[in-house]
Amino acid sequence: MPVLPEEIESYASAHTTPEPSWLLAAARATAVETSSAQMLTGHLAGRFLEFVVWALQPRLVVEVGTFTGYAAMSMAAGLPDGGRVITCELDARHAALARAHIAASPYSDRIELREGPALETLASMTQPVDFAFVDADKENYLNYYEALVPKLSERGAIAVDNVLWSGRVLDPTVSDAATEAIRALNERVRHDDRVTCVIATVRDGLTLIRRR
Ligand SMILES: C[S@@+](CC[C@H](N)C(=O)[O-])C[C@H]1O[C@@H](n2cnc3c(N)ncnc32)[C@H](O)[C@@H]1O
Repeated sequence: MPVLPEEIESYASAHTTPEPSWLLAAARATAVETSSAQMLTGHLAGRFLEFVVWALQPRLVVEVGTFTGYAAMSMAAGLPDGGRVITCELDARHAALARAHIAASPYSDRIELREGPALETLASMTQPVDFAFVDADKENYLNYYEALVPKLSERGAIAVDNVLWSGRVLDPTVSDAATEAIRALNERVRHDDRVTCVIATVRDGLTLIRRR
């Protein structure tokens, strides 16, 4: 998954503030409870998101793709008083695991999990979004982006995960639906006059996007 060499990734992780025990416990439990622990946002990206949230001081954070709650809890830790995270998850089992981890965290009062297709959840939301983290089915990445940009508050921003897709986005021999969808999103964002963006080479590539 990471685009950087393993030893660089390990060094960066070793020199990043460690996770609190309750978050580490959730990550370890995910490895036992699921067969897809590689999907977990994890230490480096989690700390990165927490830092961005702390800097932006959003009232409302929206996450697309909860899995077992790691990023939702990381972002909740950076929120100002009164801030909240709405996190969207389609899979009932993932949602149940996330609910249990969130309940065991210090931030259960800041996080609301909405179960169902994220596009429907986003369509039902009327309040301005201050920060969004997109990390669900890649085929819908462009749809999530187009749904979120008009909802952004004046200083609102979006982070999109896996935009380098382990380097597959630049391999011309790869043309599966997920890779093509990520390429389409990257092109759209880069040429969208409404926004400014930067791809951070954190883990699998994380684009930060803000309104102009
Ligand atoms: C890469 S994982 C998310 C990782 C998560 N952000 C974390 O902190 O570990 C992607 C998640 O998106 C969910 N998902 C896939 N399609 C979805 C959809 N249409 N709506 C909502 N969630 C979806 C999957 O079930 C999975 O739990």
